[in-house]
Amino acid sequence: MTETILVTGGAGYIGSHTTLALLEAGYDVVVLDNLCNSSNESLHRVAQLANKAALFVEGDIRDAALLDSLFAKHPISAVLHFAGLKAVGESVREPLRYYENNVAGTVTLCQAMARAGVYRLVFSSSATVYGEPTQMPIREDFPTGVPTNPYGRSKLMVEQLFADLAQSEPSWRIAALRYFNPVGAHHSGQIGEDPNGIPNNLLPYISQVAIGKLAQLAVFGNDYPTVDGTGVRDYIHVVDLADGHLKALQAMTSRSGLHIWNLGTGVGYSVLQMLKAFEQANGLTIPYRLVARRPGDIAECWADPAKAEEELGWRATRGLTDMMADTWRWQSANPQGYAVAAALNEPLSA
Ligand code: NAD
Ligand code: UFG
Repeated sequence: MTETILVTGGAGYIGSHTTLALLEAGYDVVVLDNLCNSSNESLHRVAQLANKAALFVEGDIRDAALLDSLFAKHPISAVLHFAGLKAVGESVREPLRYYENNVAGTVTLCQAMARAGVYRLVFSSSATVYGEPTQMPIREDFPTGVPTNPYGRSKLMVEQLFADLAQSEPSWRIAALRYFNPVGAHHSGQIGEDPNGIPNNLLPYISQVAIGKLAQLAVFGNDYPTVDGTGVRDYIHVVDLADGHLKALQAMTSRSGLHIWNLGTGVGYSVLQMLKAFEQANGLTIPYRLVARRPGDIAECWADPAKAEEELGWRATRGLTDMMADTWRWQSANPQGYAVAAALNEPLSA
């Protein structure tokens, strides 16, 4: 029988790629998204690519009555929970909005799930919960650290909430996936990352310099104890990340309690290595300047992905060249992101 999955935040960057993977794998999908950081144009594109549409519901995870009606109307067997706010700097300025969306929103969602008797949940956590680990690569059994901002703390709080929930009620089957640095886009160039305003993250910034929207990249710090002094991260292709969600969703049919998996490649690259890789993959030159460190940044961070490989049978297969070429295919075909196409489209409705 076809399973129906509720995807919160499914119009967003990672949620749209995962919705596509779910549809391609034969699932039915209900997307709940309030579009506060996305456009449902992403879901029009997903429908074209999959030749099958997700049902889109514009609404908020904090709306308990709406959640109850969705669980009553659709035979939902599990929830992939992407909805949340993710801008670190904004979380420092507006902590209440972050705790309300990310923590209280998750509480409201879990309450509705429990009322509906749906206990299988896959959650978007982050490597930020490790704080500043002293050892690399990072394993899931390392102690969680002290995230440096409200966004990071909201992710850690949700993980702690899940641990308590799983302890209190054995029906819960929860996967918390700790993403490292998601980048790239679907190979078609039809869906990708479409940040609002000036991007905070490295790859969207580089690709907006490449398209001529921004003048040059500022490299934040070249005095870290790393290969070339610039920060090192574990960049993971968003399509690999989407596949990891399907594997976790399947794994949670036969497991109970809270399970935590790193989703990373196991390899770290510096900012300058990323810049060079983007230039080489796409035959472009990206102007940059070296500036001071960004407050709150850590020197390096990469995953030990062995647990996900052993327990989920998942590993990242797409390398740096794919990440760079796919990012640029998306950006160059959609210089304004989804904005122009979205203005021409009729709204999708439930
Ligand atoms: P995104 O902003 O593109 O997607 C999040 C989606 O959730 C958006 O479509 C937004 O409109 C929606 N949303 C936000 N609050 C909502 C609410 N209250 N009700 C309904 N919908 C709501 O971000 P993304 O990069 O796709 O991230 C998805 C998840 O993964 C987030 O929880 C994020 O914190 C987490 N994560 C992202 C990264 C990253 O670098 N992109 C890293 C680690 C973890
Ligand atoms: N960087 C620059 N210039 C930029 C942007 C970034 O030099 O314009 C550097 C950063 O200093 C860092 C690296 O590029 O060394 C990656 O930075 P990102 O902002 O792309 O990613 P972060 O690792 O800092 O942050 C990501 C997510 C956060 C999450 C954090 C920890 O965006 O949401 O990982 O998991 F909290």
